[in-house]
Amino acid sequence: PINERVDDLLSRMTLEEKIGQMSQIERANATTTVIQKYFVGSVLSGGGSVPSDKATASTWQKMVTQMQKAALKTRLGIPIIYGIDAVHGNNNVYNATIFPHNVGLGATRDPNLVKKIGEATAHEARATGIPYTFAPCVAVCRDPRWGRCYESYSEDTRLVQLMTSNMVTGLQGDVPAKHPKGVPFVGGSKKVAGCAKHFVGDGGTTRGLNENNTVLSFHDLMRIHMPPYDNAVIKGISTIMISYSSWNGIKMHENKFLITETLKNKMNFRGFVITDWQAVDRITTPPHKHYYHSIEETIHAGIDMVMIPYDYPEFAADLVSQVKKGQIKLDRINDAVSRILRVKFTMGLFEDPLPDPRLAKELGAQEHRAVAREAVRKSLVLLKNGKKGEPMLPLAKKAKKILVAGSHAHNLGYQCGGWTATWQGESGNNVTGVGKTILEAVKSAVDNDTAVEYAEKPDKEDIQKAGDYDYAIVAVGEAPYAETAGDNQNLTIPDPGEKVIKDVCGLVKCVVLIVSGRPLVVEPYVDYMDALVAAWLPGTEGQGITDVLFGDYGFTGKLPRTWFKSVDQLPMNYGDKRYNPLFPFGYGLTTKGTTSQN
Ligand code: IFM
Repeated sequence: PINERVDDLLSRMTLEEKIGQMSQIERANATTTVIQKYFVGSVLSGGGSVPSDKATASTWQKMVTQMQKAALKTRLGIPIIYGIDAVHGNNNVYNATIFPHNVGLGATRDPNLVKKIGEATAHEARATGIPYTFAPCVAVCRDPRWGRCYESYSEDTRLVQLMTSNMVTGLQGDVPAKHPKGVPFVGGSKKVAGCAKHFVGDGGTTRGLNENNTVLSFHDLMRIHMPPYDNAVIKGISTIMISYSSWNGIKMHENKFLITETLKNKMNFRGFVITDWQAVDRITTPPHKHYYHSIEETIHAGIDMVMIPYDYPEFAADLVSQVKKGQIKLDRINDAVSRILRVKFTMGLFEDPLPDPRLAKELGAQEHRAVAREAVRKSLVLLKNGKKGEPMLPLAKKAKKILVAGSHAHNLGYQCGGWTATWQGESGNNVTGVGKTILEAVKSAVDNDTAVEYAEKPDKEDIQKAGDYDYAIVAVGEAPYAETAGDNQNLTIPDPGEKVIKDVCGLVKCVVLIVSGRPLVVEPYVDYMDALVAAWLPGTEGQGITDVLFGDYGFTGKLPRTWFKSVDQLPMNYGDKRYNPLFPFGYGLTTKGTTSQN
């Protein structure tokens, strides 16, 4: 019946209405007039594009409702689909639960937990009236110098596949038995449509440069980067976003062979293909230097929805004229619109187009935060524990005086990383509305009579003066970033992290937490440290860290990536011929906890 509904509606649409469905515009431009004049099919919030500062669930719902009502008043009343980057929780919304970024989820090796995170994320998106997320990122990051490495579950294709299946299922619901491969599925009004991204090979670019060129044979592209898309398609993924990157010099957005012949025809993907932000404008491969030609080229390649055509009246006019001139076949437009309508019908948008006020309470719900805390516990990877056979961890809750130090010990924004509150992420403790920093978590974990002192960058004299610390917890790492801003050829611990490690660990028994989206160069400092933990980008629930540091739970996380010694070794991945890491893929020491993990 969905196909019949799609065909029926399509048969009643004008060309302008069809092309409107193919456009996704930014929230700030989505006035009632624009939605109605251009029959806009979709609206998105770019990172940090919010209805108002610290907007509540009901403010969000009100905004989405207003846009949806505008769409419902158009001639055919086709609802818009509103999308957001809810990539580690509903991370643009104040008071949402922020889960560890994907690299940390890879470390948990726990697919059921990832499914629960998908479910919670869907609920927190629906709490704000949003039925669509641009997640999961299913990139297989082969080089940690890439600024999006933390959005990748692992360098290992199999691990990315496993997490992809479970995240898609968590977000969209379990596909029924015998569900035909490739047909989109969204199981009801508490689930959301997902988007596997960025198709394909985004994690394989030369030197990890974002949006760059992935030089690989077809065989290796299919072997390393394509398999997670197959998992997403099997689980009924609704949409797939194309990568800005190129494959052997050809921009992915114009690659008909991969988008149409491979993804749609061979893999039978029946949802819709969406561009990345203004990606059509960025197609510059000769002779398609003009926007007009870029539209023709990308739609022809198999793009169904254009995210932010930079000038949508021009986009619509150009596309109408191309169809009228026969440069783009009407069949191609009908195919694109059918796919978009199929997703909208499948997810029940026609029956239930408006946000449900009863779901507002799901934002930052205790149950979701408990799942996030569990994820933090399981994501931590213990890389070193003690010197000369004397384990340092777990730490004693009862001590006279302890030191908590480092740039990442008391900074919730840093703890969450990029794609939190804003696109690039934020600094400070008032960015998320819920959660605890590492320092706050330590204070609530230790005994009442243990004195906890905090210094962001203590120097040797301070420490010597204070003297008698039982031990120190040092948290250092990367400041937040997203996309190209995170490309980094050095991967050193940012200043003054190395100095803080040397100064503190030179004088006090210390455990160092590396809070980062990827492995950093630690080899020169490991000998100073008594214990070393990879904490990734854990999100709001700092107590997950102290649960494990103080032994309520054991360490169980395993490296989802190879921890290199020096950047000269990169790219270096598990299975490579020359493999000489500091800590190999899969490494992770364990400790026993007083509570069982599962
Ligand atoms: O979903 C993102 C994508 O990952 C990067 N460019 C912008 C999109 C929408 O915000």
